[in-house]
Amino acid sequence: MRGTGLLKGPQLLLLLLLLLYISGSQADDIGEEQECLTEGANLTVLCPYNDRKYGSSLKAWQRVRSQGPPETLVRTTTKSLEAESVRSGRFLLEDFPTDAVMKVTVIGFQRQDAGLYQCVIDLSPQDLFVLHHPYRLVYCNGEAAFPAQRKP
Ligand SMILES: *[C@@H]1O[C@H](CO)[C@@H](O)[C@H](O)[C@H]1NC(C)=O
Repeated sequence: MRGTGLLKGPQLLLLLLLLLYISGSQADDIGEEQECLTEGANLTVLCPYNDRKYGSSLKAWQRVRSQGPPETLVRTTTKSLEAESVRSGRFLLEDFPTDAVMKVTVIGFQRQDAGLYQCVIDLSPQDLFVLHHPYRLVYCNGEAAFPAQRKP
């Protein structure tokens, strides 16, 4: 093997893995999941989390607007490992610490609910940890008027 190359095999492999890792995590950060909903539809999304770190932390569901801070729509109230279910208006937040997942249900979607949402761990008012990728709820009138939707 010649030692004059800039990168030898194992180093090159490590570099490639590092690049893959970096591009993968960036894609996760900017990616959002889009859901097409008709008026009155129900939707459930799951946000898994690290139960050892966040099992007994408060959880919240937020709406992210283009301006201003995200608005908390519904949040859990107890820091325990018991399952908790809180409903506020059309949003139901259920936390299942033993399954390490929070579940959000939109009940009876309305046109004005269209927008970007996210699951967060509410560590303190100043310290929120955003879980997973954001969800974009799109109003669809049932005629698949929106592009970028998966075909059946
Ligand atoms: C949505 O959920 C509510 C409450 O569980 C139920 O009463 C309603 O029929 C559901 N609507 C649809 C479109 O499934």
